[in-house]
Amino acid sequence: MKTVVVKCGGSVLKELSQSFFDSMKALIDDDYQIVFVHGGGPEINAMLEQMNVESEFKNGLRVTSEEVLQAAELVLSGSMNRKLVRLLEQQGIPAIGLQSSDQGVLQADFIDQEELGFVGDVTDVNKQVLELFLQAELLPVLTPIAKGPNGTVLNVNADHAAGAVAYALAADHLLMVTDVPGVLKDGALLPSLTADETQALIESGVISGGMIPKVNTALKALQSCGHVHIVSGKKPFYENGTWHGTQFNKEESS
Ligand SMILES: Nc1ncnc2c1ncn2[C@@H]1O[C@H](COP(=O)(O)OP(=O)(O)OP(=O)(O)O)[C@@H](O)[C@H]1O
Ligand SMILES: [Mg+2]
Repeated sequence: MKTVVVKCGGSVLKELSQSFFDSMKALIDDDYQIVFVHGGGPEINAMLEQMNVESEFKNGLRVTSEEVLQAAELVLSGSMNRKLVRLLEQQGIPAIGLQSSDQGVLQADFIDQEELGFVGDVTDVNKQVLELFLQAELLPVLTPIAKGPNGTVLNVNADHAAGAVAYALAADHLLMVTDVPGVLKDGALLPSLTADETQALIESGVISGGMIPKVNTALKALQSCGHVHIVSGKKPFYENGTWHGTQFNKEESS
């Protein structure tokens, strides 16, 4: 059985189309087992606004004070995770929501406490827990909140979290679902990218903001995953064995 880790952007969670779920079902029919990791960017922003808390990003990562962390956990675990599990169940896909700091499903360490606050990079994944649910044919849906050192809880960029899960499970495929059709340049979709091409697009500023952790995760995942794509959640992403969006490749195809 092949494994695909799907990162579902908070940016698109409310706009997932029927054709997106049809693609998910096509994957399940083609014998893929699936693990979801989700984000919650826009909803966390809205919550912080309500709380009158300023929020800042550095290289696409949210600087996370204790207050921001509380808001992020509340939104991710209490709202976004619940929504995604219900959507999957409405589609007849049995799913189970996991708060990833529980049982150290995701374990992380501070990236740079002074610069970023409570932001972590995943150091370990409790894959036994994930395998337990996969064996029971339940699709795990993970929040990007990890168990940190000394009783802390850390906010992990959901793209980074998905990459770490894909690595831990030796997944065949990492799929990052977002609110745009893939990596765009001058409004046009780039159907395939190598590491060098991606780097050049970051340097020239074509790739910016939230797309930076996404493409960095994609490139890192190529070391262990055979297939890495960024796709839209508003359209079908997998039809008759063909994947859409931007595909990442180790080298230029000749
Ligand atoms: N070259 C690019 N091509 C496409 N999108 C880009 C590019 N550069 C920057 N972006 C931005 O990246 C965004 C996607 O990343 P973003 O972090 O906002 O969403 P997400 O990761 O899907 O959601 P979340 O962060 O909530 O999990 C796009 O909506 C777009 O505004
Ligand atoms: Mg993002």
